[in-house]
Amino acid sequence: MTYENLLLTEADGIVTVTINRPKALNALNRRTMQELNHLFGTDLPGREGLKGVIVTGAGEKSFVAGADIKEFLDLDAAQGEAMARYGHETFFLIERFARPVVAAVNGFALGGGCELAMACHLRLASPNARFGQPEVNLGIIPGYGGTQRLIQYIGKGKAMELLLTADMIDAEEAHRLGLVNHVVPQDQLLARAAELIQKIAAKGPLAVAKIIELVNAFYRHDLDGFAEEVKAFGYTTGTEDFREGARAFVEKRKPEFKGK
Ligand code: CAA
Repeated sequence: MTYENLLLTEADGIVTVTINRPKALNALNRRTMQELNHLFGTDLPGREGLKGVIVTGAGEKSFVAGADIKEFLDLDAAQGEAMARYGHETFFLIERFARPVVAAVNGFALGGGCELAMACHLRLASPNARFGQPEVNLGIIPGYGGTQRLIQYIGKGKAMELLLTADMIDAEEAHRLGLVNHVVPQDQLLARAAELIQKIAAKGPLAVAKIIELVNAFYRHDLDGFAEEVKAFGYTTGTEDFREGARAFVEKRKPEFKGK
């Protein structure tokens, strides 16, 4: 697939994905959602040497200002449902991606933009970042997981308030509430996201993939996260990486993980 709305760069095993529709504050139109789906579903899985992915928005004003409202004008109920289903599928690809995905939130993260940031595993935000689910202003609800994931990060009471009032919160408030991992100056956002991924890349990659799976399992109704942890612990203890990690500790050296 040729990417029209995503800019992709790769350095030191990290792919940076920039949502690139600055004139629309990087709003997620249909095409952009298809590109994200293809990227996380087809292009990136199994990519040799991939340590992690950074997701950000073009420019200094906006991460993603939501779904593209200009595409909403003729939407009927059936199309709306299909759109949400596709959005869920796409964001699950991100949430369940086996390598860390870090959102570098460089401005507005509203509606589908807040939902995209929440589907990533970690969030860094610049001081000008603003988070919110303003869908009720339009007479709709969040359709890309916002009613479910916001609760996971900030709890039912505060999530209910933000979802009902459409209020925006700034980066500091988002940090205080646990929605954002760290607030960092805008010009350091990508570098800090890359540092975070490099830090994780030094750990056992199979264990990292299992952690992502298990943290997600807590929020799944079709799985017992504790039972999954027992199985995954057994799996990781059976890996060469675990033997290397334990040996390296005893020998007082850095482990060399091979992802086996
Ligand atoms: N869709 C399409 N275009 C958008 C957009 C969006 N979500 N957000 C901004 N734009 C466009 C504006 O229409 C404008 O384009 P024009 O110059 O062609 O008019 C351009 O981006 C710049 O925007 P503003 O002039 O509005 O910039 P501002 O600084 O005055 O305001 C803002 C910034 C507060 C983010 C404001 O643009 C805004 O409120 N945007 C909409 C946010 C929103 O409601 N998002 C939720 C969408 S619904 C959704 O996401 C559903 C879901 O869960 C899947």
